[in-house]
Amino acid sequence: MNSPREHWGSKIGFILAAAGSAVGLGNIWRFPYLAGQNGGAAFIFVYILCVLAIGIPVLIAEILIGRTAQKNPVGSFKVLTTSKFYHGIGGMGVVAGFVILSFYSVVAGWTIGYLFEAINGSLLNYDVAEKASEHFFVLTHDPVWNVLLLVVFMILTMGIVYFGVQKGIELGSKIMMPLLFVLLLGLMIYGLTLDGSYKGLDYLFNPDWSKINSDVILAALGQAFFSMSLGMGAMLTYGSYLTKKDNIPVSSLWIAFLDTSVAIIAGICIFSVVFATGQNPDVGPSLIFRTLPVVFAKMPGGWYFAVFFFFALSLAALTSTVSLLEVVTAYFVDEKGWKRKNAVIVFGSLVTLLGIPSALSFNALADFKIIGKTFFDLTEFISSNLMLPIGGFFIAIFVGWLWGFDKVKLLVKEGSEKLFDKFPWLIIFWKIILRFIAPVLIIIVLLSSIGIL
Ligand code: PHE
Repeated sequence: MNSPREHWGSKIGFILAAAGSAVGLGNIWRFPYLAGQNGGAAFIFVYILCVLAIGIPVLIAEILIGRTAQKNPVGSFKVLTTSKFYHGIGGMGVVAGFVILSFYSVVAGWTIGYLFEAINGSLLNYDVAEKASEHFFVLTHDPVWNVLLLVVFMILTMGIVYFGVQKGIELGSKIMMPLLFVLLLGLMIYGLTLDGSYKGLDYLFNPDWSKINSDVILAALGQAFFSMSLGMGAMLTYGSYLTKKDNIPVSSLWIAFLDTSVAIIAGICIFSVVFATGQNPDVGPSLIFRTLPVVFAKMPGGWYFAVFFFFALSLAALTSTVSLLEVVTAYFVDEKGWKRKNAVIVFGSLVTLLGIPSALSFNALADFKIIGKTFFDLTEFISSNLMLPIGGFFIAIFVGWLWGFDKVKLLVKEGSEKLFDKFPWLIIFWKIILRFIAPVLIIIVLLSSIGIL
């Protein structure tokens, strides 16, 4: 337990690993379909505001807690406060990581399934939207397909976390992230050459302000939390592998920039195709699975693009699931003295078991509903809509009010002295956001997501 804590091998290693956690299905699968359901450009505008005004300040706060305490979410709060309540908030993050991982891996499994179909060429048969939607329906209705792919994906995740921070997570991210970026850029450029793709650009970047309403704002804020992996200690845990020499605000800006750019590039890819093939943008979660096969089937070299795309998407999902399992693992290693390898095997297996009812929610258990939701929807709702915002709220309150801001000021300046010498007002700005703006907005989101507002 007392062996020295591993640290990131390099500055860029941390940024890529944290961006790897942030960039995932949230950007490529969830962001486009939410944009499609919430008016396109209007949603994107509010989303970017949320990232700038709340996401980045809370991200800095979360990483700072981890770097200062050098521990998992629970251990970090134990180092920093005697408040049992806050130890519980850390514990909620570990539970949230466990629960998010269980349903996220189901969707991640689909991407692996589509990758197999892309490789063997069968995906290219779905050349019109109806056929592609029907195919998605047929696949997700097969319990064996769903569970098998969940297991495959969890084994991949466990494999990477098993090898530890530098050898596993950092090396994996260093290779995967740049590859993903290049693949997405290539797909975007192709998408833009399609006839009619400009309508997609218009939809994404020419806002119809009348579309902004409270639902759009709520969807955008919730998505900012989910997409930036905030509120459950993933970024805190990654921050715990940082040293005082690392520049937290600048790293956070990079992470936010990479996360947002991948979402927007993915949006351009998807919507150029959606509009070029005359499809409907607001079909919801099946959006990428029903639109992309159509274009892959039609385009020259479609086989390569299909393979590359689903490969990239699987990698993006993998770097996110790795961060989720890492939170759970770090807790049992730091707090309970477990060996990393044992923690990965035991808790990875338990998450897989919890994922099975989620994988069956699209078939065998489709009619099994608790408060009107399938098991998948319920775990997704409780973790993303409740636990993340609650965690984010208390992180903002802790750093803004409880920790002692004079201390916080000195801590956040470590590694970023020059930045704050040049722009001293940044600290005051950050303090106001953490004390007032972020908590109030998060409370509004939270209350409305459980139907009170
Ligand atoms: N941010 C990840 C994504 O966009 C999901 C995630 C949420 C990962 C919370 C870790 C913690 O796909």
